[in-house]
Amino acid sequence: MQSIIIFASGRGSNAEAIIQYFKKTGTAKVSLIVCNNPNAGVINIAEQYDIPFLLVDKQTFKERLFVVQIQEYKPSLIVLAGFLWKIPDILITAFSGKIINIHPSLLPKYGGKGMYGHHVHDAVITSGEKESGITIHYVNEHYDEGNHILQAHCSIHEGDNAETLAKRIGLLEHAFFAKTIEYLLTNNN
Ligand code: GAR
Repeated sequence: MQSIIIFASGRGSNAEAIIQYFKKTGTAKVSLIVCNNPNAGVINIAEQYDIPFLLVDKQTFKERLFVVQIQEYKPSLIVLAGFLWKIPDILITAFSGKIINIHPSLLPKYGGKGMYGHHVHDAVITSGEKESGITIHYVNEHYDEGNHILQAHCSIHEGDNAETLAKRIGLLEHAFFAKTIEYLLTNNN
């Protein structure tokens, strides 16, 4: 069975949606969760679903030993699901074409360093956009600049704030992320 590794820093709602999807289909397995934040909700999710997790610090994250640890799990894909650190070159080289990210806007708009979670939604609303959405893309050495795999759109409603928009974006993410992963796995990425 193909193995997926999830990197996450926060609540972990995307990680949970992916875990549940592949539990149901049985077509792949989340074999490891990597987290950089000891207080992140995603750690509870890893425990709840009995998935091994690795807590990494900034130094370890850039070392060859970390690459070796990850290679043990033979991942077909490394999936960034709300992971806030830049991926070091050593990892990008070792898993070339196998790292994907989800971003809560229609890239190239509202991407780049510091653009995550509510910062993105605040910027979208402040700019008076009529729509937003999600972008699932390959990860390269620049923040949010890898080739796009899928975008899905949603409208912005009168009176929306970062919280209401985040909920609508979350629904899109949960509807499309796992299916996109499955598509990539089936088509040999
Ligand atoms: C998601 O909305 C994801 O798109 C975003 O973080 C959230 C994580 O939520 N990622 C970024 O902003 C990356 N730049 P979750 O922890 O509930 O899955």
